[in-house]
Amino acid sequence: MPDVAVRAVELGKIYRIGERQSYQTVRDVVAAAARSRLRRLSRRSGAAPGAGPSTRGEWVWALEDVSFELGEGEALGIIGRNGAGKSTLLKILSRITEPTKGFADISGRVGALLEVGTGFHPELTGRENITLNGAILGMRRAEIDRKFDDIVSFAGVERFIDTPVKRYSTGMHARLAFAVAAHLEPDILIVDEVLAVGDAAFQKRCMGKMGDAARSGRTVLFVSHNMAAIESLCSRAIWLEGGRTVADGAPAEVISRYLGTCLSVLNEHVWPEPELAPGNERVRIRRAQVRPEGGDPSDQITVATPFVIEFEYWNMRADAHLNLSLHVYNEQGVIVFNAVPTEEAVWQRRPFPRGLFRDTCHVPGHLLNDGVHRIELLVVEDLSRVIHRMEDVLVFEVRDADESRDGWYERRVGAVRPRLAWETEHLIAVDAAARRDG
Ligand SMILES: Nc1ncnc2c1ncn2[C@@H]1O[C@H](COP(=O)(O)OP(=O)(O)OP(=O)(O)O)[C@@H](O)[C@H]1O
Ligand SMILES: [Mg+2]
Repeated sequence: MPDVAVRAVELGKIYRIGERQSYQTVRDVVAAAARSRLRRLSRRSGAAPGAGPSTRGEWVWALEDVSFELGEGEALGIIGRNGAGKSTLLKILSRITEPTKGFADISGRVGALLEVGTGFHPELTGRENITLNGAILGMRRAEIDRKFDDIVSFAGVERFIDTPVKRYSTGMHARLAFAVAAHLEPDILIVDEVLAVGDAAFQKRCMGKMGDAARSGRTVLFVSHNMAAIESLCSRAIWLEGGRTVADGAPAEVISRYLGTCLSVLNEHVWPEPELAPGNERVRIRRAQVRPEGGDPSDQITVATPFVIEFEYWNMRADAHLNLSLHVYNEQGVIVFNAVPTEEAVWQRRPFPRGLFRDTCHVPGHLLNDGVHRIELLVVEDLSRVIHRMEDVLVFEVRDADESRDGWYERRVGAVRPRLAWETEHLIAVDAAARRDG
């Protein structure tokens, strides 16, 4: 077990709705904390507001009862919807705001990149801010000088280095802030959503830098809405919802559960008016539906349920050679399968007259794993040309079924979850042979 770098104990933060607190900047609080290696962040005085019924409803718990321990060198991703409390958590850990309840122990120097605007002094130049931040982190002048050129070139602000940062664009400001946070070698790197502000090349460099920090044994806390970034960078993920921890564990698993709740399920879609329906002058979609075999779109589909995917569409031109092609995606964005009507007996390879058609694709039970699946529809002409394409035309959930668990209570890994024929044979009975020999 590595040493604990961050220990959060029952952290809670209540805000008055509509009231913006005046934040201290990272600079203020880190300077005040001087260079102590172990800091305890907690509310030292004052009663928690909002307990009385008269004030109820005006207060919001931005964070409630959040506890975790993070070992040195762990890279933690924090995910969740807008307003879930992610930034609040990071602000408490980097001492920009105090918790209303609970406390956090932080062991080591913290380099934080939170919202743009925190961390730098607007009147000072880029050069002065770099030096100041280094000093706050407890670095010697020579150390800062050694890093200086790297920081400036990483941020790409060479021409503006002697300009006050209040004249920087948002992007320049964020790039410099990230460069400072990442290059000054804090023990704990805290980054909130920086990837949103840069171009693709800068995002890639940020990810590389955070990966370096994580690999060189630094502790990383990273908030992002980019699940691919979280998954590739982090060794662990926490999902916050309404200020509370919903899940804490391996990134792939936590992300998959989180994404499953973000897509709203869409088991049926009808476009009664052909003129308003998706499509073009060759084909118009009329209806899309997924339902259990012999059931309704509102009925549950479990890993064991055979189900159908059905489309109705208008063919607008005589003698068209059409076929549908379905891509079924899972939550990880993997195409689990592509279905085409090669086994269809009547209309395959026959020209379609104008009119309304219905295609029904039968999917056996015990094929898909549990989770949310999305269907992309392609309408293909002459077996080669895609004439219409619709992403996420249907979104449906395959539930786990108790009877399919067989005593195993964690999620089965894999894109599919087939029930396969299997034999086990007892070939040699050791005990009997031993008795005979003895
Ligand atoms: N200074 C503040 N004053 C009042 N309410 C606040 C303040 N800061 C945050 N809140 C509220 O606390 C809740 C959590 O906000 P927070 O910024 O932590 O969410 P988040 O998870 O970072 O969201 P996002 O993904 O949008 O960045 C929200 O309801 C927000 O409106
Ligand atoms: Mg935020």
